[in-house]
Amino acid sequence: MNNILKIETGSLDVHPLVAAVKCQTKKSLTHRFTMERFGQIEPLTVVMRGGNALIIDGAERFEVAKQLPTLFPTMDCRVVELEDSEIIDKRILLNSTRKQSIREKCRLVEGILNFLGKQPGLKRDWLGIDGVDIREKYSDKIKLDRYHFASYLIGADISSSTLRKLMAIYYYDGKQKEKILDLIEVGRLTIDKGYKVLISKKKKEQEKEQLRYNHFGNGELGKYELYCQSSLCMNQIPDHSIRLVVNSHPYFQLREYRNQGESPHGQENSVREYVEKFIEHCEEVKKKLLSNGVLVTIIGETYRNGYQGVCTKVETALENNGWKIIDVNVWVKLNPRFAPHLSRFISGHEKIIVACPSDEEPIFNVVKKPSAIGEYKVIRSSSLVNGDCNYSMASPDADITNVIQTSVFNRKEHSLIDGEFSHDAPAPEQLYDLFVKAYSLPGDTVLDNFVGSGSIGVALKLGRDVIGFDVDPVSIEFCRKRFDAILGQGVQTLSIAA
Ligand SMILES: C[S@@+](CC[C@H](N)C(=O)[O-])C[C@H]1O[C@@H](n2cnc3c(N)ncnc32)[C@H](O)[C@@H]1O
Repeated sequence: MNNILKIETGSLDVHPLVAAVKCQTKKSLTHRFTMERFGQIEPLTVVMRGGNALIIDGAERFEVAKQLPTLFPTMDCRVVELEDSEIIDKRILLNSTRKQSIREKCRLVEGILNFLGKQPGLKRDWLGIDGVDIREKYSDKIKLDRYHFASYLIGADISSSTLRKLMAIYYYDGKQKEKILDLIEVGRLTIDKGYKVLISKKKKEQEKEQLRYNHFGNGELGKYELYCQSSLCMNQIPDHSIRLVVNSHPYFQLREYRNQGESPHGQENSVREYVEKFIEHCEEVKKKLLSNGVLVTIIGETYRNGYQGVCTKVETALENNGWKIIDVNVWVKLNPRFAPHLSRFISGHEKIIVACPSDEEPIFNVVKKPSAIGEYKVIRSSSLVNGDCNYSMASPDADITNVIQTSVFNRKEHSLIDGEFSHDAPAPEQLYDLFVKAYSLPGDTVLDNFVGSGSIGVALKLGRDVIGFDVDPVSIEFCRKRFDAILGQGVQTLSIAA
């Protein structure tokens, strides 16, 4: 007869035969983690001896429950009738039927990763999972990497990097996934090998897929080229053909964009690695720029584990890489993201570095903004000394300063083209408009090698040709629509099929 009873935790004990073989394993951390959040999921298995319930399965969960008496005053127990001689066999049977399959392991890790949250930062900080808290509570061996944490919690005998590879296989939605998991399950493929197979297949599929998303458009105002690939290599563009590059790299550890592939730029482990990747991209940009061309790069700060000085480090690295810094503008965001902090003001600006690949002077067109007056106006003033009258002329335009104020982004710029589309970090057209006017001439070619939602499209309106690169096919497809809309009716668009 098997029945489930609620038995007071204080009156339970571990059967001496089980206590003799039981040892503390990493599993107890998993139990603590899940029991604290989800309660007791499975009943313990007990036998009755002289009116006392003795645990024959679930001893580690019982140990956790004893540490959390307010959460577990009682425990669910399945009472089984067994002779002492049958107990060890029963345990072996229970353990063997409970051995986790590779897919079960993946599902468990998936749950833990979802719980920790994908965005490095907010949720983990809020839960007290980062920093001292978690180490004190679970183990001082736990690093802050969430895969390391998950690997520790599930008691997996694999390193966090191998677990990362296993999960990459599990998350993959291509045909090969099930087959690779099956082969790993039966031991015919290691996780590392399975991952390598997956990567090479994935790369081939991506190359095919991405080719479909290269687009070329031509209209009266100008023409565009859109490439769905990483801008680390821009072989399609002739060297020294670009007047101006305006871009914003993915910011350091701030967002996870769609379709970024392996080792996404922005998700490097340290600022140093981030800056190195940043410079690698800039070197490719330098090859494409005219010798008197200009790079304008918008860059936000990251406050991950405190102020990181990302903008300053990038500026210095550019200089060390042979770039001549023309200026560092400040972009003041009129409606910044509300992210309050205990010891600093809400971050409300980003930097815009303007740099040249050589010492040659770049083109610079003075850009004016309309002043409040709206027309030329004669202004009368009188001297305090002798009372003489003076007259001066106030211009309807005013020079702009290197402190540029705009709202973060105007949603209409997207919804008018495609209401379904969204991008995590679009820059406002207004910024692009300003720099395109200042640092290029009609007929020039301008490039955004992280084109995203295609704010650079504004350059087409100004008679410049545009080239865009992005790894995300969804963004490239949106840019195509956006650029075609700018070029208007009669635009000739050519999409290259695989
Ligand atoms: C900050 S967003 C750029 C937003 C863009 N300025 C706009 O106005 O929409 C960065 C973009 O870089 C893309 N990206 C990330 N890594 C890339 C790479 N290696 N090559 C090209 N694009 C990349 C991302 O997909 C994302 O769309």
